[in-house]
Amino acid sequence: MRFEGKVALVTAAAQGIGAAVARRLADEGASVVVTDLQEDKLGEVAAGIGARALPLRVDVTSRDDVDAAVAAAVERFGRLDVVVNNAGGCIVQSAPEDTTDDDWRAQLDLTLVGASRCIQAALPELVKNRGNVVTISSVNGLAAFGNIEYSAAKAGQIAMTVNYAARYGSLGVRFNVVAPGTIRTPNWDNQPDTLERLSKMYPLGRIGEPEDIAAAVAFLASDDAAWITGHTLPVEGGVLTGPTVLNPALSKKEYPGH
Ligand SMILES: NC(=O)c1ccc[n+]([C@@H]2O[C@H](COP(=O)([O-])OP(=O)(O)OC[C@H]3O[C@@H](n4cnc5c(N)ncnc54)[C@H](O)[C@@H]3O)[C@@H](O)[C@H]2O)c1
Repeated sequence: MRFEGKVALVTAAAQGIGAAVARRLADEGASVVVTDLQEDKLGEVAAGIGARALPLRVDVTSRDDVDAAVAAAVERFGRLDVVVNNAGGCIVQSAPEDTTDDDWRAQLDLTLVGASRCIQAALPELVKNRGNVVTISSVNGLAAFGNIEYSAAKAGQIAMTVNYAARYGSLGVRFNVVAPGTIRTPNWDNQPDTLERLSKMYPLGRIGEPEDIAAAVAFLASDDAAWITGHTLPVEGGVLTGPTVLNPALSKKEYPGH
């Protein structure tokens, strides 16, 4: 019950990673403001949590929405301690040479400026309560896995976090990042073959589940991480260790029967 008496706000919490994070924080005692564009699905997540959930329609590209969400959190629960910046999927599908300035703006506005808006709105509460922010970036922010615009926005979240951590550390506010590898969420619903192919890249032999990310977020957001700020925690089944094609052969030689 690491979050008893604490209040968290999670963006894009109607499904996937955001929903798992909201449930995990609530399971550990938090009151949770669950926000997303999809009101029906948000209602289901909130119903599963019960009286300690406040579902709100929030578009992170709208400063008014984000400001209103922070105000609603304080009005309903009296405080705000944790912000989880989870909104930020890949929205540009064109080849990089065809990407327009508007495509770039849209990707950055959702992923990078969206996270910044939430931090800006929550800062007074976070300073008051010595709170913290966990932003969901991606392994794409750390190495080349494809999609230039998405990856640049995810790397931007990491740079933003380091700078916020340095600037507000003396006030007791922490900022960290979780960088997931491939996670089984509705984002992949139409691509089961891709997921199967990707799972073979992972030394731990599987892709991740939303709960794998929720566990890492809960750690970083809790007092167990009281002296950790400005860091990026990859949660990625070992995919950042490098190309894995040779590993199974090596294992067989050194560990017969593996
Ligand atoms: N799933 C993965 O493999 C994976 C891997 C690495 C990083 N991530 C990151 O994790 C986060 C969550 O990914 P997911 O796969 O769980 O998401 P998802 O695709 O399953 O769901 C995305 C959610 O974001 C909401 N959303 C979209 N635009 C929004 C906006 N403007 N404001 C508020 N909400 C909005 C949608 O309504 C939806 O509920 C994203 O930042 C993503 O980049 C995901």
